[in-house]
Amino acid sequence: MDKIVIRGGQKLKGAVKIGGAKNAVLPIMAACLLARGESVVTNVPGLRDVVTMKSVLERLGVRASLNDHTLRIDTAAMDGFEAPYDLVRTMRASIYVLGPLLASHGKAKVSLPGGCAWGPRPVDLHIRAMQELGAQIEIEHGYIIASSSGLKGRPIKFSIASVGATANTMMAAATAEGKTQIINAAKEPEIVALAEFINKMGGAVTGAGTDTIEIEGVKSLRPTEFATIPDRIETGTYMIAGAITAGKIEIKDCCPQHVDSLSMVLRQAGVGVECSGGTISIKGRRDIASVDVLTSPYPGFPTDLQAQYMALMSVARGNSIISETIFKDRFTHVPELRRLGADIKIEGNTAHVGYVKRLSGAPVMATDLRASAALVLAGLVADGETHISRVYHIDRGYEGIESKLGGLGALIERVPE
Ligand code: EPU
Repeated sequence: MDKIVIRGGQKLKGAVKIGGAKNAVLPIMAACLLARGESVVTNVPGLRDVVTMKSVLERLGVRASLNDHTLRIDTAAMDGFEAPYDLVRTMRASIYVLGPLLASHGKAKVSLPGGCAWGPRPVDLHIRAMQELGAQIEIEHGYIIASSSGLKGRPIKFSIASVGATANTMMAAATAEGKTQIINAAKEPEIVALAEFINKMGGAVTGAGTDTIEIEGVKSLRPTEFATIPDRIETGTYMIAGAITAGKIEIKDCCPQHVDSLSMVLRQAGVGVECSGGTISIKGRRDIASVDVLTSPYPGFPTDLQAQYMALMSVARGNSIISETIFKDRFTHVPELRRLGADIKIEGNTAHVGYVKRLSGAPVMATDLRASAALVLAGLVADGETHISRVYHIDRGYEGIESKLGGLGALIERVPE
């Protein structure tokens, strides 16, 4: 296992390029199952989660290769229908094969993902939506066993705007008979990207990006080519890196409008944020003001930036309140940030972040993907050395974080533990 060692105190400067969005690529990879033949997806980030999804597809008999950020997925020889526990337990997004397998093969066997580091994460909405489209579902020995003799479109109303359930339903409905309407759909840019991908395959999805999505089922879909949208969470993480180090950096190849909620909060905190085309310029400062934040579905402040933002607020000049409304227990980064000297108290789904003069480097442990990003950010400003172990978490969602931050002047290296 590797660890990341950071010597804090450098102001970041220069430019960094953002890669393709992990959370857009994962459902798109699953959607390739909807057509027979080879689809090509470009701007694919070289991440552990992408490799895991590739393994899930390979277990289904799909041929897949990832070279130079180009992913080729050939479903011609596909003969399986099972996503096994050993893969699903390492990546919950494996559940994305449920809808496409039902649509294309009329059957699917997908392991239940179980809980995650920060609490229960049910998949009841995915299951119910498949049932509403006419699938028979049983839960046996920890697996979702689904079958259908032809899915039928219909209105489906979600009680929660779930990204995953919206994506799975769109994929299942793409070739169902008749029209499906998803009411209270997730509006995230990754959902819009998936709709564009399905439409490029010959599908008929409208309304993605609003809370009502309509999918007119088509007879069949064909393989296609698609370029992945930029990763808004990677973008936001580098924005915070510039801000927390009082640096001056340019973030390139991103989509500024996808991080509007963060830009707004950073400006309130006194950080300079300028957007032009696909570039965001960040001008940080030493005396960051504290600004309260509440996570909410897009276009609100993303839960996937809550931990990183908390690292920034840990060194802000005042007290702030950060409330987590999507995953109420998503605070595994807090004890580790405290080890670096942060003053954070948790009350229910709310973190109260107090003022501290400085953070000081220490050995800490990454507990999940975004928590590890928060520790890296805190390490960039902490006095002395911060050693972050279990960095495999960070490789799930940040390609080459040490080389990208190193390119901006951070003193960071990856060493064997
Ligand atoms: N929910 C249910 N039942 C379900 C599905 C969701 O109750 O069947 C609840 C969840 O417990 C949560 C809320 O609905 O309280 C929203 O969850 P959602 O389904 O939107 O999350 P997800 O699809 O499991 C995706 C991202 C997460 C991101 C969330 C929220 C992918 C692969 N994952 O998860 O990304 O936090 O949306 O935006 O797209 C990450 O990248 O670090 C990450 C965790």
